[in-house]
Amino acid sequence: MSLKIQAALFDLDGVLTSTTEQHFQAWQMKIKEVFNVDVDPKYETLTRGVSRVESLRILLNAVNIQADEQTIQTIAHEKNELYKELIEHFDESHLLEGVTELLQLLKRKGIKCALCSASKNGPTLLKALKIEDYFDLVIDPSSGPGKPDPYLFLEAARRLNVEPQACIGFEDAISGVKAIQSAGMFAIGVGFEPLDFADVHVYSLTKIDAAFLEGLTREDHGVPPQTLIHDDHSSFEQLKVDETLFALSNGVIGFKGSFAEGYGKDDLPQTFINGFYNFIPYHYEENSIHFPQVGQTMVNVLDGSAMHVFVNQHPVDLTHCRLVSLHREYRLHEGCTQRVAVYEIEKNHIITIKEERLVSRSTPHLIVMSLNIESNHQHDELLIKSMIRLPQVKQGSSMDPRLAKSISHLEFVSSNLHEEGATLRAKTMASHLECEIGMTHSHKGNYRLENESVVAEFKTTLHQAFHLTKYVVLKASHLDEEVSCLSLLSDLQPYSYYKTIQRFDFHSFVSAHRVMTSREDINLALHFNLTHLYGSGGVHPHIQIGAKGISGEGYEGHYFWDTEIYMLPFFALTHPTQAKNLLAYRHHTLGFAKEEARKLGVNRGAKIPWRTINGQEASPYYPAGSAQVHINSDIAYAINQVYVLTHDDHFMKTIGFELMVETAIFLLDYGHFNETGFHLDGVTGPDEYTAIVNDNAYTNKMAQFHFNRVVHFAQRPEYRVLFEHIGYTQDDLDELKKAADHMYFMIDKQHHVLAQDSTFLSKKVLDLTTIPKDKRPMLLHYHPLFIYKHQVLKQADTILGCVLLPLEDQEVFKNSLHYYLNITTHDSSLSKAIYGIAAYRLREDTLGQEAFEDILKIDLKNARHHTQHGLHLANIGGSYLLVMYGLFGLVINEDVSFHPQPLTTFEFVSSRIQIQGQWLDLRLEREMFSLRSEVLMSVRVGQDTIKLIPNTWTMVKVSKP
Ligand code: G6P
Ligand code: MG
Repeated sequence: MSLKIQAALFDLDGVLTSTTEQHFQAWQMKIKEVFNVDVDPKYETLTRGVSRVESLRILLNAVNIQADEQTIQTIAHEKNELYKELIEHFDESHLLEGVTELLQLLKRKGIKCALCSASKNGPTLLKALKIEDYFDLVIDPSSGPGKPDPYLFLEAARRLNVEPQACIGFEDAISGVKAIQSAGMFAIGVGFEPLDFADVHVYSLTKIDAAFLEGLTREDHGVPPQTLIHDDHSSFEQLKVDETLFALSNGVIGFKGSFAEGYGKDDLPQTFINGFYNFIPYHYEENSIHFPQVGQTMVNVLDGSAMHVFVNQHPVDLTHCRLVSLHREYRLHEGCTQRVAVYEIEKNHIITIKEERLVSRSTPHLIVMSLNIESNHQHDELLIKSMIRLPQVKQGSSMDPRLAKSISHLEFVSSNLHEEGATLRAKTMASHLECEIGMTHSHKGNYRLENESVVAEFKTTLHQAFHLTKYVVLKASHLDEEVSCLSLLSDLQPYSYYKTIQRFDFHSFVSAHRVMTSREDINLALHFNLTHLYGSGGVHPHIQIGAKGISGEGYEGHYFWDTEIYMLPFFALTHPTQAKNLLAYRHHTLGFAKEEARKLGVNRGAKIPWRTINGQEASPYYPAGSAQVHINSDIAYAINQVYVLTHDDHFMKTIGFELMVETAIFLLDYGHFNETGFHLDGVTGPDEYTAIVNDNAYTNKMAQFHFNRVVHFAQRPEYRVLFEHIGYTQDDLDELKKAADHMYFMIDKQHHVLAQDSTFLSKKVLDLTTIPKDKRPMLLHYHPLFIYKHQVLKQADTILGCVLLPLEDQEVFKNSLHYYLNITTHDSSLSKAIYGIAAYRLREDTLGQEAFEDILKIDLKNARHHTQHGLHLANIGGSYLLVMYGLFGLVINEDVSFHPQPLTTFEFVSSRIQIQGQWLDLRLEREMFSLRSEVLMSVRVGQDTIKLIPNTWTMVKVSKP
């Protein structure tokens, strides 16, 4: 969809003003007068868009009256006289909502307007409505054939001297929509009866605003559409995995890809609202008041996914029928999923269920499900039971810390039934958060309360296909929302509108990143990843991104450092506002982080919780949790990235700098100086198979950079003032500087590597060949003490430090990569992307490529066997980092720089990023690195600063070392 709109062609009646009633009333009166017959109002729609005489023929035919040509002409004429009387009082107050605004907008944009009405009264009405000046042209309906013939519209295009492809047409009648479409134009249906044929339908023209027109005119971003297709229905396990892969999310709502009709048994449809949690009790045998006493868990919220299908009272699902075939698609470029399930309910009796879903980006409360049901038999009795209900609760518990506990968290509060829809309210039992769900449908249903569910029933005899669209709205108290679900329900537009807007949104999203490689399979996997990442968060400053996004309950829905280090760069480079929201969440919860610092015995500053939803530390196991004080610097690192990429001082002054300072002060006080330098003792680095150590190199490297950045900012007077305003002094700045200058690191003499910590390299090396495959991940099979006393890594630690803050000494970097890689299990999905980046940077392309291919399989191929509990969002972010940090060698520290190496494993890789609001296109082909921007811009490539001429590719030869 990329239109260059030059003309807007309007129907009149039903689009600009509402004369339907007057037209029809005039017909009824005349026909009654002449033939003494009442015309049923149901025939009204047949006359829409149809010429005067033709309308009369249709109506007479409908009531079985024959009339000669002379009579027809006379009645038509008299009807018109009557009609003119009925509209005599029309003035601008009779314009439909949004008309004036739209005409003004079109005028401003230089888009020409023409009237293409079948009505001969067009000019009179335009005048009465006082909009005639907006129209460049009125087509005379008697000059050619009427709608659905495209004549009126084609004639308008011809006379305006515009190509039909550059026209949009507005119509309220099917005949008109067909005319627009056969003219090869974009058809916008208007009015309360959705027209299935229109390219998009809106209830009122108010929805056609500047953003909408912009959406239609978006230029092509050159990235081919990507669709994930699955046809596998071999196992229930695969269906559960697919629920995650085909999950839809918009940053707030996560809606898993269950079947509307259900599975017949063992259904556990899941819907999440980001940041909506319940408290769960923690029990320690040896408690401490400094441990978190309660945990938080993301809650499966009220369920609106069920639309159970019965044909002749026979349930249609895979338990009660034979599933003949299943086809699902994730249209990544459109932000919607489609599924076709073919069931055999009895021999040769086939029911086909087609379901389309979207979770709206533009209307963040909204889920739309559209169901189409077909039978190969005639006269089937179809019943659809559509529900909103409390979530289903799964039984059983697990020893696996990566999985969520399974207990019920919600209790029923109230329900509200209306003719057009219903709502249900529930609250969490311990955290007392409220959520509300509402539903309505494209057809009138009857809504009733059944236990604690609301059920709406739709009955029909199935002749051809039956189509039912369900609109589900969800809201929750933690997001401070005022609107009630009922008012959301009353403000809905037809499905096609949301679908179109969704396409616009996803077009912009793809336009913003434009990640492409020469490998199609990799492109699909990358786009799959980025779609999920985009939908995981960053849309609201009070919520963040969980380790599983909102695609599953794994890790209890907690936010970790994963967000800032692995995911945030994507947002910072392509959607900076979302990146700022992610950090705004940390600022919003800074109070809790200060409390946590006190619990850890530090009287100043803030300690970001290791895992949390509401901002309070929820890690019950401090050695691999709270001890990871590096999270403070991870957040500072991300703040710095956002600043370097945006130069947004407002963000920095209201959010970024305070966070950076408070987290630095904590680390300054947590650590200490001695004769060998500044040390951070009793910490755990990113690698969780090594706990509570001194001088973890990653932690120290990150803290050093962190402290230096605080000092750097504080050199500017306004930040200096802010620093003092936050509560710190020149002495503190001096100390930060001193700590950074004297940060302790150890280069091991024997292996010539950067030592992971002060004792790591003297521990016993664990021979990984002695650890059988079925004993992985090790954390589930070995006591932590066994793991901790060995040289064995769960994930990249020192190497991550070297990737984020490149070492000068390439030899140490190379040695370190191989040394640590050898003892790494990659039991964490956060591991391989980082080693892959390091490998690409060191020109070990085979190793880099291997890592790349591996990490792309983690969810798509369920390589870790628990994708059903959610996607591995950090790994997903890592796949983007592999492209940006790895292949392009992007470093965002003091400035933005690229250090690409010759490309050997792809023909090309390309992408687009945003620097200070300006787009920068990147392309790497073999030994040629090309950059292009729309404005004059200087970019650092290696040691050189390159000046870019606007809109011109600048090529840089990538040298072989
Ligand atoms: C519009 C209306 C029709 C009407 C036609 C001719 O298209 O929707 O109902 O029959 O115009 O109108 P006229 O004003 O010429 O009778
Ligand atoms: Mg009309």
